[in-house]
Amino acid sequence: MTDRYAVMGNPVEHSLSPLIHAEFARAAGQDIAYGRLLAALDGFRAAALEFRDAGGQGLNVTLPFKHEAWRLSDTHAGHAQAAGAVNTLRFERGRIVGHNTDGIGLVRDLSVNLGCPIRARRVLLAGAGGASYGVVEPLLREMPQTLVVANRTPEKAVALVGHFEKFRKFATAGVVARPYEALDGARFDIVINATSAGLSDAMPPLPRGVFAPGALAYDMVYGRRTPFMRFATDEGARAADGLGMLVEQAAESFFVWRGVRPETKPVIQLLRQEVKA
Ligand code: ATR
Repeated sequence: MTDRYAVMGNPVEHSLSPLIHAEFARAAGQDIAYGRLLAALDGFRAAALEFRDAGGQGLNVTLPFKHEAWRLSDTHAGHAQAAGAVNTLRFERGRIVGHNTDGIGLVRDLSVNLGCPIRARRVLLAGAGGASYGVVEPLLREMPQTLVVANRTPEKAVALVGHFEKFRKFATAGVVARPYEALDGARFDIVINATSAGLSDAMPPLPRGVFAPGALAYDMVYGRRTPFMRFATDEGARAADGLGMLVEQAAESFFVWRGVRPETKPVIQLLRQEVKA
């Protein structure tokens, strides 16, 4: 019987995950079906359990249900524990295992696809919402020189840094929270935009000169050239969108479920044609 998976979210109709997983399965010769499921805003738990009880093997979970997916999980594997959020559920006999593959997806896209290793680099993370929580621990494990977290609401950046206290030691020169205004004069090798500002054609208030020579500007938003990416290009930095991260996190989910790590490059190329960034 064909194993069934799906992505669950609200909204979910624009999710590219079904296309990505269909490509992975085709290339790997795996017989799976992967669908798209809309859950009511107050109905995630019921919808997820219904899918499992009908024989579903696993779910990808997207906004706004990643915290609820964490609570639904009986155990948290990999980076899910530290993130406090789950984007991949694996339904095992008698238990639900929650994973978070977002951070690995970002790290792989930066270090492998974009040729930008994180080790010993000065990293700025803009935003302190769910997207940031998903990536901080995997980023720190790459041992950057510094990780600075900036946020429009400064207390949220402070809370985020506190949450990851245990992993602070991985950044050789520390992890700090800073308001955007305090970034004047600071330089970074990698600047990651984990805010949702790009979705409304806005950008976090970064000062000019924040990019060190040769810096990479990475927007987790994909499929559009955001104001952050335009700003970065004007400032002389290289800009990338989050499409590669999307495909890499999917590849890691596929691995969690199937034990096979799919090739990502052809799928990234395929999606590039679908969504012009
Ligand atoms: P999610 O959990 O989906 O990431 P969120 O918790 O609302 O959503 O977080 C969105 C992030 O984008 C936050 O860091 C938010 O900043 P605030 O915490 O100050 O709200 C940030 N953000 C959204 N729009 C922004 C904008 N126009 N400028 C700067 N930051 C913005």
